Amino acid sequence: MSSNLDPELRRAVAERVRYYNELGIYDFYRRERSGAAASVTVAGVEVRDSQAESGEEMSPRKVTAVAMPAAIEDNIFHVMAPKPEQGVSDRAKALKIIREDLGDCTRCALHKQGRKQIVFGVGNPKAELLFVGEGPGADEDEQGEPFVGRSGQLLTNMIKAMGLSREQVYIANIVKCRPPGNRAPEREESETCSPFLMRQIAAIKPKVVVALGAVAAKTLLAMSASMVQLRGRFYNFRPAGVRSPDWDGCKLAVTYHPAFLLRDPRQKGEAWKDLQMVMRELGLKAPKATT
Ligand code: URA
Repeated sequence: MSSNLDPELRRAVAERVRYYNELGIYDFYRRERSGAAASVTVAGVEVRDSQAESGEEMSPRKVTAVAMPAAIEDNIFHVMAPKPEQGVSDRAKALKIIREDLGDCTRCALHKQGRKQIVFGVGNPKAELLFVGEGPGADEDEQGEPFVGRSGQLLTNMIKAMGLSREQVYIANIVKCRPPGNRAPEREESETCSPFLMRQIAAIKPKVVVALGAVAAKTLLAMSASMVQLRGRFYNFRPAGVRSPDWDGCKLAVTYHPAFLLRDPRQKGEAWKDLQMVMRELGLKAPKATT
């Protein structure tokens, strides 16, 4: 998507794309314009916008016609344009392409707020389990790797408790640059950066994504709710705005962010319940405790 797209417009386009994705629609074709009556054909079928908005049960095959707001029409193609890694089956190669596309990113304000480097993500490109945190802290900014500070040590222990190693999973964040003072990423920063994360997830095709904390959960699920409401269940997850013909999405679970668990260790038992739910889904058994 063009980097100077108006944030409100970007949001509107992303929401529209997500809406169509939820209907199972991934293909967007530009129809020739005829004067003011610009229209868009979705999945080979023209869709009347007013019907789509009404929430009416509709069969895409039966629906006719038109009228996506012109600004959205112009930009939806940026959002849905085939990504350069699309069709690259080698997951490591696909990730490399995404990293190259990201470049020395200056798309949001974080690039001029003291970041030392971009923290792309780390781990196994074929991971079945993928963790998503919020954003790099000082240690991650220094080392260029997510979750290497105190929170990272706890996450590493959580992964080990599941019978896995850091090398077997993939770890990334909603934003790839350190927010100053370790503040939470702002909405525009998350919305600018998260499409790259969505592409990473689609390239890796994990079985389960674990969102660490509310920022990750709300961004990935595009919903606002408390951690109590978000935890304790699986969501069906497909990365927004990315077409993956050979992958039907995965499960997503929400648990507490390790930084929160460091502040309130009494909640570790609750987090362990979340991870056990994930382990059952992946057929994992906790390693036997060594004495
Ligand atoms: N906290 C996060 O959310 N991510 C990191 O990479 C480190 C700390």
